[in-house]
Amino acid sequence: MRLNKYIARAGVCSRRRADELTANGNVKINGNLVTSPGVDVGERDIVEVNGRVIAPPKKFVYILLNKPKGYITTVRDDRGRPTVMELTQDIDERVFPVGRLDADTTGLLIMTNDGDFAQTVAHPGHEVHKTYRARVAGVISKEKLAKLRRGVELDGRLTAPAYAELVRQSHSNAVVDISIREGRNRQVRKMFAAVGSKVIDLQRTAIGEILLGGLKTGHWRKLSKAEIDSLLGNKGE
Ligand code: URA
Repeated sequence: MRLNKYIARAGVCSRRRADELTANGNVKINGNLVTSPGVDVGERDIVEVNGRVIAPPKKFVYILLNKPKGYITTVRDDRGRPTVMELTQDIDERVFPVGRLDADTTGLLIMTNDGDFAQTVAHPGHEVHKTYRARVAGVISKEKLAKLRRGVELDGRLTAPAYAELVRQSHSNAVVDISIREGRNRQVRKMFAAVGSKVIDLQRTAIGEILLGGLKTGHWRKLSKAEIDSLLGNKGE
């Protein structure tokens, strides 16, 4: 395995950063300084980054969790609130979240112990559509839907064109499916706020081709090989 992939898979940093660390003399293999990023790492090689021995996990695990409300998407919370890590204690490998959902948002969260995969999928330039079902106070008019689709201004910058469809409208609230390919902070809530609507509930229902489906809240399942490949843009072997 190439050195930069080995370092990324161990969860140290991205492949690009691994190349920089290597070029800057922060990496040793079997005690010898290496500065060429093109080096291959074998099974028995011992790799050190900044004096710490690192290694990718022996077995990679990729799961989909249906995150409940109130759980924080982090490995550790300073304020002692429940984290998504508590919901994956029954997995032998220690998986960590890929990207994040707000505490109040429920639904599809991918978790893995593959640092390289996590870096690739969570990178802002990695354009995978994320779909949400939002319950919103009041009426969602055709005009509001059109604005959401065209893009609204958030922090001085227009959002990219989005898919937005009204699922149902009752007298007090509306349910809207919205699909975006950016991942700005609290983007869906802010997009609705920009058209004058307040989100009451938000659930992520899909990431690219991966669907939450009928998975129960607080439960997880393994991703299939096809689902993992679909996130990486691989069409299968
Ligand atoms: N948009 C939001 O507003 N919140 C999320 O958790 C995800 C997307």
